[in-house]
Amino acid sequence: MQRFDQQVAIVTGAARGIGKAIARRLGKEGAQVFLMDLLEIQLQETVEELSQEGYLVQAIPVDICQENQVKSAIQRVAESTGRIDILVNSAGIIGLTNTNIVDYDLATFEQVHRVNLTGAFLLTKYTIPSMLSQQYGRILHIASIGGKEGNPGMIGYAASKSGLMGLVKGVGKEYAGQGITVNGLAPAVIATPMNQDTAPETLAYMASKIPMGRLGTVDEVASIACWIVSKEASFNTGFVFDLSGGRATF
Ligand SMILES: NC(=O)c1ccc[n+]([C@@H]2O[C@H](COP(=O)([O-])OP(=O)(O)OC[C@H]3O[C@@H](n4cnc5c(N)ncnc54)[C@H](O)[C@@H]3O)[C@@H](O)[C@H]2O)c1
Repeated sequence: MQRFDQQVAIVTGAARGIGKAIARRLGKEGAQVFLMDLLEIQLQETVEELSQEGYLVQAIPVDICQENQVKSAIQRVAESTGRIDILVNSAGIIGLTNTNIVDYDLATFEQVHRVNLTGAFLLTKYTIPSMLSQQYGRILHIASIGGKEGNPGMIGYAASKSGLMGLVKGVGKEYAGQGITVNGLAPAVIATPMNQDTAPETLAYMASKIPMGRLGTVDEVASIACWIVSKEASFNTGFVFDLSGGRATF
């Protein structure tokens, strides 16, 4: 018997990085996993890789900012499997880095919010009804230490992740009595392809803040993420968990 046997999971941002590692771990522990991302080719390659490792995985290309795409993708999962037990939303973008607010353009600020916050809103809104019908569900959004403590030069990202934490705390309370938990995770810097989109100055600043003196790994994220979305995590909701190598102080 494995932790996620008979369970259906959706993971967004699953083509690479943290989402891919979480999808792999869920698959390895028995879940049927639907991987969503807008990088269609990379998503397909990831699904082939995980299938070859023996896991039950399927790709659904989705732009999480588009309401019609999110709605139909989630409906497709619910109709084909009859249930959705887990949603892990790891899709996200960093936007501008090493750029103070006076030089930060509105279009980028709004785009970062569209992906990191509106996308999370849409995914949560359309997943909850399936979870309600079974009176069970686990939702996890990947936030960031930047949303808790702020990082200079990347204000769009920090503000969107703070907003995401507000969403987690509010929705967690809405469904706390109906078997559904909604939580967040706030990692410090993790070694992933996202780091290539980050200015070296910003990356160095964030890395220097970690008392353990190293970046986190995607396997470390997958480990705590899978506990948060497991049945074992039955008294935790509306909370943002830490994964920061000692950076977060509360
Ligand atoms: N890497 C870090 O240091 C770090 C630290 C804290 C939090 N996070 C958060 O963790 C999550 C995963 O980050 P990562 O490091 O794996 O990044 P990544 O860039 O490697 O992966 C993010 C994935 O999200 C997908 N994505 C982006 N916009 C999308 C959209 N509109 N619709 C669907 N998919 C979309 C991308 O195509 C990509 O595959 C993000 O939310 C990020 O903000 C990352």
